[in-house]
Amino acid sequence: MMILPIAIPHYLQVEDEYKGYRIPAGSIIIPNSWAMLHDEGAYPDPFTFNPERFMKDGQLNKDIRDPAHACWGFGRRICPGRFMAFSSIWITIASMIAAFDIKKATDPEGNAIEPSHECVSALVSAPYRSSALSSLAQRKWSTLSARVPAQEAF
Ligand code: HEM
Repeated sequence: MMILPIAIPHYLQVEDEYKGYRIPAGSIIIPNSWAMLHDEGAYPDPFTFNPERFMKDGQLNKDIRDPAHACWGFGRRICPGRFMAFSSIWITIASMIAAFDIKKATDPEGNAIEPSHECVSALVSAPYRSSALSSLAQRKWSTLSARVPAQEAF
């Protein structure tokens, strides 16, 4: 999942060259981070959720390209918050794994709801909220809020 699929456009103040392509001064470059991070050559079967692709013999596999080459942007305008963001995500996921049993949500009949991997196609992307999961969240919220009288909630 990409938060910024096409990163941020960059303006060239001076002429540059990339792999034999002349890029005139004044050009605007729009990096396609999404394509770079779904490159089948670098990440075979890129649409499968497979964190193991980055591991070998219980260690990080250095032969697999680090997604950091594209997910934080590029050059001197690369995301300055990346260290804080990476640590926050690490702490959040580690805490969730430690504190919760994570499994698929179920509909009222008890059938597992398959999470969709679809994302909003926009400059800033996020997962679609499926209607099944939205109504599940609403039901859970009504159950929880009914247990706590409104005046005691805050
Ligand atoms: C998962 C979380 C984050 C992602 C994926 C992300 C990604 C990015 C990307 C792709 C850019 C554009 C870089 C470019 O122009 O090439 C950017 C810029 C920026 N990010 Fe982040 N970012 C994240 C979190 C944060 C956090 C937590 C902060 C601050 C605490 C932050 C502050 C900034 C700032 C200030 C810029 C603009 C830098 C500039 O234009 O000079 N970001 N980020």
